[in-house]
Parts: sequence; C-alpha cells; structure tokens
Amino acid sequence: MSEQIEIFEVGPRDGLQNEKRMIPASEKIALIDLLSRAGFRRIEVASFVSPKWVPQMADGAEVLAGLARAPGVSYAALTPNIKGYERARAARADEVAIFVSASEGFSKANLNATIIESLERFSPVVAAARADDVPVRGYVSCVTDCPFDGPTAPGDVAAVVAAMQAFGCYEVSLGDTIGRGTPEAVDAMLDAVLDEIGADQLAGHFHDTAGRALANVDVALARGLRVFDAAVGGLGGCPYAPGSAGNVATEAVMTHAAAAGFETGLNPEIVAQAAAMAKEMRG
Ligand code: HMG
Ligand code: MG
Repeated sequence: MSEQIEIFEVGPRDGLQNEKRMIPASEKIALIDLLSRAGFRRIEVASFVSPKWVPQMADGAEVLAGLARAPGVSYAALTPNIKGYERARAARADEVAIFVSASEGFSKANLNATIIESLERFSPVVAAARADDVPVRGYVSCVTDCPFDGPTAPGDVAAVVAAMQAFGCYEVSLGDTIGRGTPEAVDAMLDAVLDEIGADQLAGHFHDTAGRALANVDVALARGLRVFDAAVGGLGGCPYAPGSAGNVATEAVMTHAAAAGFETGLNPEIVAQAAAMAKEMRG
C-alpha cells in the first residue's frame, strides 16, 4: 500500500491575494466549492489582514459566508493580529494561521514589524484561539532566502520555528516565499529545524519561481515531511515579496507524489477542473 501525503490547498488565499484583477467573491466561492469536492482536508480560503495592505482579500467574510461547507473540510484563514483574528472568528473560520518571517527585511515589508514585534503581536491571537479552541497553524517565511536580506541562516529559521511551537501551533509551514531555495539549502534548513520539532509537525510551502519546487518537495519527503502547501493552477505569489511567483501547483505535486508512490487521496478530475478554473480567473 502506498504511503499518504496531504496537500494543504492554499490557492484561494496565497494564490488569489496576488492577482491584479479584483476577483469577485462569487468567483472565489465557486473555486472553493469545487475544491471542497476534491478530497482536501484543509483549504485556506481567506486572509483577514489590513484591506489597505491587501485589498484582494478584503472580502474574506463574504467568501466564508457564501461557501457550501463540506463535512470534514477545515476552512482556514490567515490572521496578522488580534483584529484579524476577531474578524476570522466572526466569519467562522475553522482554523487560523499566524505568519512570521525568519528574516528581518521581509518581516518589515510584510508586517511592518521586526520579528520580535511580530511574535509579540501574535501572542494575544494564540491566547484567544486557545480560549476559543480554534487550531492555530504557523507559517515561517523566507526559510532559505529573503528578497531583501539574501540567504537566511538555518539557525534563524529554527529559532522562529521554536517560537511557533512554543505558541502551540499544531503545525508549522516552512515557506520558500520567493522560490529561490535550492535542494541543498532546503536540506540544510531542515537539518536545523528538525532539531527543534518533529517532521510530523512540519509542512513544506514552496513557491516555484525557479522551477525547483518539486525538487524541494523531494528533499522534504526524504526528511520525513508529509504535508505540502500548494495552489491549484500554480496560482500565487506574495505582494510584499518582489519576485515571488506562484505556489507549486497542486496538480504537479499530486502527479509527482503519485509517481514516487505517495497517495494524496485527491480526485484528479476535480483537481484538473479547479486548476482550469483558477487559470481562467487569473488576470
Ligand atoms: P500597519 O499599517 O503597521 O498597522 O500594518 P496599523 O495597525 O497601523 O493598521 C493600519 C490600518 O489597517 C488601520 O486602519 C487598521 O485599523 C487597519 P486605519 O486606522 O488606517 O483606518 N487594520 C486592519 N483592518 C482589518 N483587519 C485587520 C487589520 N489590521 C489593521 N486585521 C498589518 C500592520 C499587520 C495590519 C499589515 O502589515 C498587514 O495587514 N500585513 C499583511 C500583509 C499580507 O497579507 N501579506 C501576504 C500574506 S503572508 C504570505 O503570503 C506568506 C505565506 O504565504 C508564507 C510564505 O510564502 O512564506 C503565508
Ligand atoms: Mg506563500
């Protein structure tokens, strides 16, 4: 029997946050409803960040209200502060994600805060989520390279991962935000991070700017990681990371993993339909 991996679908958030065209909530909902039938256990559908910073995600409440929620699917939302957490909670997000950078340059650009300040800002978010029994996922960005500071030291990533673990994040997703990571750099980073936390609490989040995302998935698989963030149709990029291209495509990870003997439990026809829809939504 082949081994299972899980793809965490992030297209509706990490993908659509970067589109130039203001995509109406109805189109986002149609994509998410299709994804809900594909077999994903978790889909990131919105972010409740400042609408001044990311206007593309301003309609998160409308999107969550309009979804046909499928049983067994957790609908996740990204939250940058307590205000975002309260909005996500009001919109009935099933889980939230906090996000910290391993490099100072991107922290400032993306959150207008140093790494330490951003951790302080997330402290009330995790406290509120714990009280409300809402699962919290953690993202660490720039795990190999930062668009402002250059290469990131593996020890810096491990330190931020440890902070996320201390916050009680049930899983930490390691982001190659600008897709510049080489397999060697990803391996060195994982070597440091795995001293802090088990592979079963980690996810790989690879952007495919340089076409190395699947090679980086392979390195992470060899290190024992079994969860990968991906976006149908390879949607994506981060508006505050110059040069960041789309997330690795869900359909590419699915096919690649299957060839290596890993099952995703996803329905390939529905994933293909969603990828086609995502591509059509792009500006
Ligand atoms: P700031 O300007 O320093 O904060 O931004 P502020 O507190 O002065 O707020 C500015 C205005 O935004 C105020 O409104 C606030 O009320 C409002 P005003 O008084 O001017 O009318 N505001 C909010 N409104 C709604 N919801 C909120 C909220 N917060 C403030 N939650 C802040 C600081 C953190 C808010 C800002 O920097 C921000 O929103 N950053 C998010 C940027 C972002 O979404 N980036 C993309 C996601 S991260 C990513 O893609 C990487 C990832 O995929 C992993 C990887 O690839 O590495 C996760
Ligand atoms: Mg990302």
